[in-house]
Amino acid sequence: MASSSSSASFLLFFLFTSSILLQFSFPVIKAQNYPPLADGLSWDFYKESCSDLESYIRDHLKKVFQQDTKVAPSLLHLQFQDCFGQGGCQGKVLLDKSRSGTATFQIIEDLREIVHSKCGRIVSCADIVTLAARESVYLSGGPQYSVPLGRKDAVPSKTMDNLSFSATKHGTSPKLHAAITNADTLLEQFGEKDLDAVDAVSLLGGHTFGRSHCNSFTDRLYPTQDPLLENSYANHLKKICTTSNAANLSVLDVRTPNIFDNKYYVNLLRHQGLLAIDQDLYTDRRTKPIVTGFAYDVNLFFDSFVHAVVKLSQMNVLTGSQGVIRANCLAADLGSSLKRSSLVADN
Ligand code: HEM
Ligand SMILES: *[C@@H]1O[C@H](CO)[C@@H](O)[C@H](O)[C@H]1NC(C)=O
Ligand SMILES: *[C@@H]1O[C@H](CO)[C@@H](O)[C@H](O)[C@H]1NC(C)=O
Repeated sequence: MASSSSSASFLLFFLFTSSILLQFSFPVIKAQNYPPLADGLSWDFYKESCSDLESYIRDHLKKVFQQDTKVAPSLLHLQFQDCFGQGGCQGKVLLDKSRSGTATFQIIEDLREIVHSKCGRIVSCADIVTLAARESVYLSGGPQYSVPLGRKDAVPSKTMDNLSFSATKHGTSPKLHAAITNADTLLEQFGEKDLDAVDAVSLLGGHTFGRSHCNSFTDRLYPTQDPLLENSYANHLKKICTTSNAANLSVLDVRTPNIFDNKYYVNLLRHQGLLAIDQDLYTDRRTKPIVTGFAYDVNLFFDSFVHAVVKLSQMNVLTGSQGVIRANCLAADLGSSLKRSSLVADN
């Protein structure tokens, strides 16, 4: 963990405080916490047809994460990009050609191969993305939760081509939501998708693990330092990103970079949030009390996160006779074995 820092005393302080607070984090499950099910989704969708689905996913991801912990956050990020960035959890993000060959995409396709070889071509890529994101949270120390299943995948069309084109432009650095740099825009844009302030602040807790490229935050360092950035943290970041466009990465959560916990919110209280949107959650009077609540109560955060991420996972889904089950998650195949008439593309 400490390898990413050259200022050892700075990190030691965090490791110390983190290890104390860590004792209080443990997974929580509360049935009453879940939002209502979207039409066509169910909690036990594959109970008869692929009863061990969830363990196939978990077992494989355990092995993958053991080799490289960095990929876990990228799977949660992928779910967000698909559901929010692509206007619905339909596996569209996986067709972004500019990202083909990335480790994250290959993990999803490997999971599909395992699952289809065990159960046949009955599980959608959209469901696999959902399950993979769920494991990335749980296997990184976060809450264990159930996800509704039964999504279908989008198929390409004129509209779809344009959507994947816009995904291409936004590529790996999510300029997709780059317009969201303050709580005001966040609450507005999330509100349009029926995600309230608690949902929004909870979901941004996804930044409790994972990494960001320098150019996503160096406008807070150069030419003038953002007054909302705590000084020792700013100096730490300047060593990682020596210039605005340095091709380097910083962890999003300086305290516990690879653990899904509530330290992200503790960072915000200390003015050590990495992205402008992160720190602004502690400035805006509507979101500040939520941040404080989560910083002091990890279970409150976990409960709220589960509610919000399950809501996110049901955003604009295709179900029943809509959409397809792709034979390859990364190829926009038109489902040759399926009736064209059953394909619903535009949404
Ligand atoms: C609209 C609000 C959001 C903004 C503006 C935003 C912005 C960003 C940015 C700029 C990065 C760094 C990307 C890079 O430089 O490569 C990032 C990474 C990440 N985001 Fe967000 N994000 C938002 C919402 C979310 C949500 C809702 C989640 C999940 C619940 C999430 C999860 C992640 C994760 C896990 C990473 C790390 C990815 C990795 O390490 O590969 N973000 N986000
Ligand atoms: C998709 O993009 C093409 C070329 O940019 C444009 O001609 C077409 O009208 C777009 N289709 C839709 C449905 O937006
Ligand atoms: C990249 O970040 C590391 C710390 O994470 C730092 O030691 C290194 O000097 C940085 N590299 C460049 C080119 O700035």
